[in-house]
Amino acid sequence: MAAPLAGSQQAFAREFYLTAPPETMPKLKARLMANENPYGISPKAREALVKAVDLSNRYAWMEFGELANRIGEQEGVARKHILFSPGSSDILMAAAAYYTQNGDPSKPRTILTCRPTYDDLLERSEAFGAKIEAVPLTPQYEYDLDAMKARIGPNTKMVYIVNPNNPTGTIVNPQKLEAFVREVAPKVPVFLDEAYIDFLAPAERPNTGKLVAEGLNVIVARTFSKIHAFAGLRLGYGLAQPDTLKALRQYTNNNFGVSITTLMAGIAAYEDREWQTYCRTENAKVRDYTTKALKGMGYEVIPSFANFLLFPIRMKPKTFENQMWANGIGIQTREFGGQPWCRVSIGTQAEMEAFLAEFKKVVG
Ligand SMILES: Cc1ncc(COP(=O)(O)O)c(C=O)c1O
Repeated sequence: MAAPLAGSQQAFAREFYLTAPPETMPKLKARLMANENPYGISPKAREALVKAVDLSNRYAWMEFGELANRIGEQEGVARKHILFSPGSSDILMAAAAYYTQNGDPSKPRTILTCRPTYDDLLERSEAFGAKIEAVPLTPQYEYDLDAMKARIGPNTKMVYIVNPNNPTGTIVNPQKLEAFVREVAPKVPVFLDEAYIDFLAPAERPNTGKLVAEGLNVIVARTFSKIHAFAGLRLGYGLAQPDTLKALRQYTNNNFGVSITTLMAGIAAYEDREWQTYCRTENAKVRDYTTKALKGMGYEVIPSFANFLLFPIRMKPKTFENQMWANGIGIQTREFGGQPWCRVSIGTQAEMEAFLAEFKKVVG
């Protein structure tokens, strides 16, 4: 079975998982293609999930408030600043819909970003008729905030920043990001996709909750899919001004896409700092190991702050990808700057050893 060559998670699912006959799906010994958390959900979240099975006949009501209170306390925002969703994808899609649909439809609409980045919001915006204005990343593969600022114009409907960026794993300097938001948000809404922010130690993260609390027009998207390992359970949230959330709600199920079981598990996971630290520490350790091993084989690896690595390969991407999948290693490839790249998620130590062993065989 040929593996897909896709630019975004949704395209990936569409082209492959949803269309391939199940019997042709490769048996993977390492699932390193979707930046999942290989350690699983926190034991406390598991316990809460099992307990919540007895609530399955109920809609979630005040339980949203319970999680919102905890997030609000941590982020320094009020409950009115929080909107829940089944994963952060729904927040991304709602923003794509709203910012490309509102206002005068005869006027051109542009979403400003840097590329390569996470394409789901951008592809959806394009589907709604918007134009994507993408500034290249810096030579260090970081978002180029100065170049973006210079490109803001009358048609810019939203600025989209992924931090840490996917697929490069790079971050923007927190002070620079905060200064950028303070300058730009009074003119154009700034969307900060922080799916991987929890892989930074708390002290290294930009304080984007504070920017929301200050009243700035910024939308912060967070997910439980990564550090909390809820990719399958589906939980995320957006932080923004109440009137922005009111607008985004028109394009979502207004919290109700989240099941009570997921929500109860989410509350326990959010509280379990020990498990978050464990996942962050293990990820960093295994990421270092994999980076060193690839460098030892003569590959340049972009220093990553997330749970994946991007490095240039010397094979046709499709050929490389198919061979890795056929050997039981799920990865993704990209092509940009005339260069093929491998994006590999950080699995367990054993999974990365399997990845390296098969990688050696495939590249010869
Ligand atoms: C940058 C980024 N944003 C958002 C998402 C959406 O994830 P989810 O819908 O699981 O929260 C992903 C998924 O991999 C991602 O990489």
